[in-house]
Amino acid sequence: MNKQPLRERFPNITRVPHHVGIVMDGNGRWAQARGLPRLAGHKAGTDNIRRVLQAATELDIKVLTIYAFSTENWGRPPEEVAGLMNLLGEVIRRETRDLHANGVCIRHSGRLEGIAPHLQRQIQEAVTLTSENRRITLNVAFNYGGRAEIIDALRHIMRDGHAPEAVTEALISQYLYTGGLPDPDLIVRTGGEYRLSNFLIWQAAYAEYYATPTFWPDFDEVELATALEEYSRRDRRFGKVPQPGPGQAAIVSPQ
Ligand code: FPP
Repeated sequence: MNKQPLRERFPNITRVPHHVGIVMDGNGRWAQARGLPRLAGHKAGTDNIRRVLQAATELDIKVLTIYAFSTENWGRPPEEVAGLMNLLGEVIRRETRDLHANGVCIRHSGRLEGIAPHLQRQIQEAVTLTSENRRITLNVAFNYGGRAEIIDALRHIMRDGHAPEAVTEALISQYLYTGGLPDPDLIVRTGGEYRLSNFLIWQAAYAEYYATPTFWPDFDEVELATALEEYSRRDRRFGKVPQPGPGQAAIVSPQ
């Protein structure tokens, strides 16, 4: 493995996104290409989280949200769903202590309801144990759906008795599973598709989008750095006109 720091190897990374979201797609096709069962792809995909988390930490990304299991994934064959649930339990058991020692704050985004009680407990324990860690936040979207998240937030807002006029973008953001986290700056999708698939649909309103054909188990630190190089080239305007560079006049254009 190349030991040279990533920022030296990739000098074109001039801006590092604070929060990166990843749709980890392509595990099944990765396995199929090797004549392996789909679950072997999910296992390789799970192992890959560690590699990408390490690279994200080195690059000074502060929040990494990974789409591990969507509300729609319950519709997969029962043995695949069971396999993904087992993987979550295994990975929490195996990795939490090490993540904690390395300053990783684990968060969960999604509905706990619907997940087996023993897994709910494991998730909550890992979240509580690591809640004070500040080096990087690993936000695991599990049993997550963006629309369900908005419904849950609105229900919660109403139960808390907020007046309709008090409902603002900031209030809704605060009530989402991701409350307190900044919006993602960059959404990466592996596996070659160009869809959000109900991932962070509120939060990603102004995120840059990056898609790669690489299957998730093969998405390594070089791929992440390449995504950040592309991000560095993007001109983020948030609906406004481009900011003038030094010595340039502002471009005035209609909406
Ligand atoms: C998509 O691959 C991947 C998922 C269903 C979610 C990603 C899951 C993991 C990385 C493993 C589980 C993670 C944890 C934390 C337990 P796909 O099956 O849709 O691939 P395909 O499009 O090639 O079929």
